[in-house]
Order: sequence, then C-alpha cells, then structure tokens
Amino acid sequence: MARTCLTLILAAGEGTRMRSDLPKVLHPVAGLPMISHVIRASVGAASDAIGVVVGNSSDDVAEIATGESNSVEIHIQDKRLGTAHAVMSAKGALDRGYDDVLVLFGDAPLLRHETLTRMRDTLAAGANVAVLGFRTDRPDGYGRMVEEGGKLVRIREHFEASEEERRINLCNGGIMAIDGANALELVNSITNDNAKGEYYLTDIVEIAGNRGLEVIAMEASASELLGVNNQVELSEAEHIWQQRAREQAMLEGVSMSAPHTVFLHHDTELAQGVSIEPNAVFGAGVRVSAGAQIRAFSYLEGAEIGENTVVGPYARIRPGTVMEKGSKAGNFVEVKNAHVREGAKINHLSYVGDGDIGRNANIGAGTIFCNYDGTNKHKTVIGEGAFVGSNSSLIAPVTIGDGAYVASGSTVTDDVPDDAMGVARGRQVNKEGYAKAIRKRSQAEKGK
Ligand code: UD1
Ligand code: MG
Repeated sequence: MARTCLTLILAAGEGTRMRSDLPKVLHPVAGLPMISHVIRASVGAASDAIGVVVGNSSDDVAEIATGESNSVEIHIQDKRLGTAHAVMSAKGALDRGYDDVLVLFGDAPLLRHETLTRMRDTLAAGANVAVLGFRTDRPDGYGRMVEEGGKLVRIREHFEASEEERRINLCNGGIMAIDGANALELVNSITNDNAKGEYYLTDIVEIAGNRGLEVIAMEASASELLGVNNQVELSEAEHIWQQRAREQAMLEGVSMSAPHTVFLHHDTELAQGVSIEPNAVFGAGVRVSAGAQIRAFSYLEGAEIGENTVVGPYARIRPGTVMEKGSKAGNFVEVKNAHVREGAKINHLSYVGDGDIGRNANIGAGTIFCNYDGTNKHKTVIGEGAFVGSNSSLIAPVTIGDGAYVASGSTVTDDVPDDAMGVARGRQVNKEGYAKAIRKRSQAEKGK
C-alpha cells in the first residue's frame, strides 16, 4: 500500500527583513506567492495532508494557503519559539499518524517536488530522518551539517558553531523528512537549551542518532534551497525561477533568441514551435499556441494567442484578448477584451478595446475603438472581411458589417451595413491658387 504523507510548511516567521507590509511568504515569485510554490511542491510529492504553520494574525496567508489545495490545514504558532516548536504546533496533525512527515519552509519557493519524492523514497528505504543540505562557498548564517565517519551526527546552528564547524560548507537547507512512527516523539524530545533559547528542529539529528536511528544527509543544489529573507534574495529567487522556466520552455521546443530578457509568469503556457524575440514579458494567464511569433518588446497578459499568429513588435495584449489562428497585432497595437478572429490583421498603431473582429478583417493604421463613454464600456463589432481605413475612430457601440469599408479618417457613430462603405468625414475641397496667394500676401506684409 502506498505510504501516507503529512507535509508541514513552517511560515510563522515575521519576515521583518523584507521591510514590507505584505507577509513574507506572500511575496510573489513569477507572480505566485512563495507559500503557493511550496504547497504545489508538496502536492507534487503526493502529500495526503499539508499543514501550514502560521503566526497570529496571518489571515491573508491562511486564505491563500487554503485556496491552493483542499489538503491544506492551518496551524497557529502563537509564540515564535523555534522550528521544533513550530512543528509541535501541528501536533494535532502528527497525532493522526502518517508514514512520512516532511518539514519545509514557506520562504524557500524553489524546492522541486522531485526532490521531496526522493526524500520520501529514502524514508521508504528505511531511513528515520533525512536532511536535505547543499554546498556553498558562503555558508554564513546556515546550520552546518556535521559528519563523522561519513555519517551525519548533528546540525550545528551558525550561531553556536565552533571555528572549525564554521568551515564546513555543507549547510542545512531546512528541509527534513522524518519517519512518521518516530516523528512526534523525536520532536517532542527537543529542548531549548542553546544560545538563543529556541527549540531547534535541527537537534533531531543528534537525538535520533543517539537512539540508533538511521539519519541520512541528502543534497540538492544551493539554488533549489535558496531561502528568501529580504528583497535581494527575493529577486534572486525570481531570477533562478525565470532561468528554470525558460530552459524548460526551450527544451519543450520554444525558441528564444535572448532568453535572459524574456519574463514568464508561473502560469504561462507556451506550445512547441512558439518563437519569442527579446524583451517579451508575460503577465498572468497567457497561453500561446504553436507557430505563434511573439516579437520583441511585447507585453501580454490574460490572453489566448492562437496558432501562427504574430504579436508585436511592441504590442500590448491585455486581459480578455483572444487571437485566433493566423491573426496579427503589430507594432504599437493595444488589444483589450477583444476577439480577433482567424486571419484578421491589426498592423499598426491602434487601440482595439471591447471588440469582435471578423475573419480576415483589416484594421488600418491608427484605428481607435472608442469603447468608453466616461461611464460605461461598449462593444465594437467588425464583420468578416471588413476593411477599416487608417485613422478612423469607431464610437462604440457600433457594428461594421461583413465586407464593409470604412473610409480613412472617419469618425464612425452609426452602423455600416454589409458590403457598404461608411464615409464619416468632411469632403475635400481644393481651392486653386489659394496657397500661392496667401504666401504672396504674407511676404508683402513682412516687407513693410
Ligand atoms: C534554519 C535552520 C538552519 C538552516 C536554515 C536554512 C533551524 C534551527 N535552523 O535557520 O539550520 O540552515 O534554516 O534556511 O531550524 N519558523 C516558524 N516558527 C518559529 C521559527 C521559525 O514558523 O518559531 C519558520 C520561519 O517562518 C521559516 C523557517 O521556520 O520559514 C525557518 O526559520 P528561520 O528563523 O528562518 O531559521 P534560520 O535561522 O534561517
Ligand atoms: Mg531563514
């Protein structure tokens, strides 16, 4: 039978070093709160229950966390007395008895679920405690993993470590896997007899070792275990996340000529065969289908970008946009809440807001959909194969019929029937010789 798993995510820290009103674990990486990243990794490792330990007055954290998964329960740690104390705040969950207990930190958002699965496998193979460490040239501040005779014997917090111990570059990443049969009893045995007077979860290593239980040191990369304590580290986490996501996308067949300039959102979906030019930014909720070209300096959010479409360069695609197969939104075009049907083109300098653009329609340069009357938004419908001449203003609500034309420079207030041409501007009058006469008069006046 499959082993059961309880994952505890410690997130009761105050995060004062963030210098932010937002609780630390709600700071986003790739647009997703850090706590959500950690919960998703826990779900990915097949946790049956996920306990998030928060401090008092963490309603926002609780709300986000419970919204992530039905398996999430919140435990309150009233006083911040250390990581072992935090684990004990979830005693109720531990009492239920699980085969595996994982302890994670809410501020380490880059942890992969594969690594957690690897730790669970280590428990399944008979280990009682597995600790995930990493190697670094800058171990300052971390707990050091002290090995003797190839065995992990204790973790010494930086604060309490001797000179010699401080030279150890294998650091505790904070992630632990404990066999459920022993977990509660082991954590309960931890005392606060140390320099800080805190209950250190890391003491579990020595306690378990002394009882002849099997303690295993595991390793992951330093980047995967990065903990975020301030805004600089938050930007490092973002950097690492972006690099990973770009690489993943490229391995799946997305081409990027300057990947380090492309910014993805946690939910960006890019199909095989999408090509992305430099400096494209993806906000929330963008899906791009095969063969689409996202050209340089485009910004997209909340959009469905169909097959073989072209977006940009310099396009701004806003929420509610659907671009069907073969359509185009070119340079300096802003599209919002609009359905651009198959083969339709908006090539230059336009604002298309609240619209439905028919198949193969052509929206000329400088066309503006006047969708807002100062109070309400209104819709503009462009028929199949219609042609809107350059520099037209379409005052919504308005419908341009199938196959209709709008003459350049029109300010369209009324519907244009199918196959008709709407001309809504003053007719041109040429006054012969007028320019010359004016010039002559001005020169005469200047000469006086
Ligand atoms: C901890 C580890 C250290 C490790 C480092 C990795 C201990 C004693 N030390 O140190 O070995 O190298 O992480 O980043 O575990 N928390 C609570 N309640 C508490 C205390 C902490 O929920 O009472 C939470 C914090 O919100 C945080 C996590 O536990 O998510 C770790 O706490 P933190 O104070 O950052 O521990 P470190 O000193 O970084
Ligand atoms: Mg920390």
